[in-house]
Amino acid sequence: MSGPKIAGVKGMNDLLPPQIETWQFIEGIARSLFGRYGFAEIRTPIVEHTELFVRSVGEVTDIVGKEMYTFNDKGDRSITMRPEGTAPAARAYIEHGVANTEPLTRWFYTGPMFRYERMQTGRYRQFYQLGAEAYGSLDAAQDVEVISLCAEFFKQVGVPDVVLHLNSLGDASTRPAYLEALKAHFAPLVEVMSADAKLAFERNTMRLLDSKEEALQAAIKTAPAIIDFLDEGSKKHFDDVQRLLTKLGIGFELDRRLVRGLDYYTRTTFEFIYQPKSGESSLGRAGTVCGGGRYDRLVHELGGPEKPAVGFAMGLDRLVMLLDSLKSVPRSAPTLFVGTFDGPERDDAIALVMALRNEGFHVDFDPRGGKLNKQKERASKVNAAWFAAYGDAEHKARTLKIDNMRLAKDAPREQLDVSFDALRAWLNGASKGSS
Ligand code: HAM
Repeated sequence: MSGPKIAGVKGMNDLLPPQIETWQFIEGIARSLFGRYGFAEIRTPIVEHTELFVRSVGEVTDIVGKEMYTFNDKGDRSITMRPEGTAPAARAYIEHGVANTEPLTRWFYTGPMFRYERMQTGRYRQFYQLGAEAYGSLDAAQDVEVISLCAEFFKQVGVPDVVLHLNSLGDASTRPAYLEALKAHFAPLVEVMSADAKLAFERNTMRLLDSKEEALQAAIKTAPAIIDFLDEGSKKHFDDVQRLLTKLGIGFELDRRLVRGLDYYTRTTFEFIYQPKSGESSLGRAGTVCGGGRYDRLVHELGGPEKPAVGFAMGLDRLVMLLDSLKSVPRSAPTLFVGTFDGPERDDAIALVMALRNEGFHVDFDPRGGKLNKQKERASKVNAAWFAAYGDAEHKARTLKIDNMRLAKDAPREQLDVSFDALRAWLNGASKGSS
């Protein structure tokens, strides 16, 4: 008797074939492109001490206040499943004294992140990020390098219509005057605010700008924008960023409202948002496929040296959804499917399949054997390009009769005789046109 079924945890997805190929396609492009940009891969643990995120992402943020998977381990330490990758990377950067051995460090990472969020299209509780962080440069060239990396990445994976939104949050000398203006703006609404919003008003007023509360929406639209309060240094830096982006031909939209939901940002902030020219985005409100910015104080605030930094993270689940809706990632398929018979030459047929695979060809067969037409059905199910039956006659003639499996419905049969000696050369040619 079979037992009751157990479902996966809500908001956490299984990634299965054939869709996994879209993931691998994206990861493959990331590895080669990020490498050429000088970014090396790091892998940090899934869990960190809770305090790391409280001190970096910020206590009065949605992520830390509401969304973290936090538990006490058996030693009664508070542990959190990482909701993002910037703080863990900074922790590792400090812990390994990386700044002592190299003045400039560029890292990338990919892996699962965890946020207990309300679910909707493109928003999950376990999701995957591909992120990059560059430590050691204050120069606008560093901001533009990471933005350029994103833009080129979207181009190479084939996602059209992503628009770069750009803003600057200034630095420590920008903040006091801005926060004062912001507080004055929201003060008349304190009476109607929820407890959460009141807390934000008191302790982290900028967070009100991404509040979803109905009563605040009108005031959010008319709130003062930090970009109007930039100090000279931040203004010059932001001008440099824009000039260099223009030089590189990377289009952007200035977005005065872009403040991002994490506390560590200074100066440049940016997002890439999917905005199809025609019609609605299939991602709805989850159209932000990448978010990032500069964070010049974080490394020092986490106990490390004074090291400015800038980085981003892309939401891979969202990218995969987009690519799958565009059907632009080719699926792999066998070049040749070998049909076998229940006779003494079956072992030779199987040995040939394995040998060809081991030599680098994508060749398949049905290990269940059985009727040849069933095997042919299997070949077409796995989208094999060519099919050859290997029986007594083929074994003796040392030649396969190879059928084209990808003909139009009413096209005449296309069958080729390929001798065992010529098989490798033929497969080499055929595999170029078939996968
Ligand atoms: P973030 O904006 O919180 O930034 O996340 C970056 C991206 O991760 C988002 O733009 C989105 O595509 C994806 N994402 C976030 N939450 C979810 C979710 N629940 N489901 C699916 N995708 C999601 C950061 O995490 C910063 N650490 C980025 C950064 C790196 N800034 C500097 N360096």
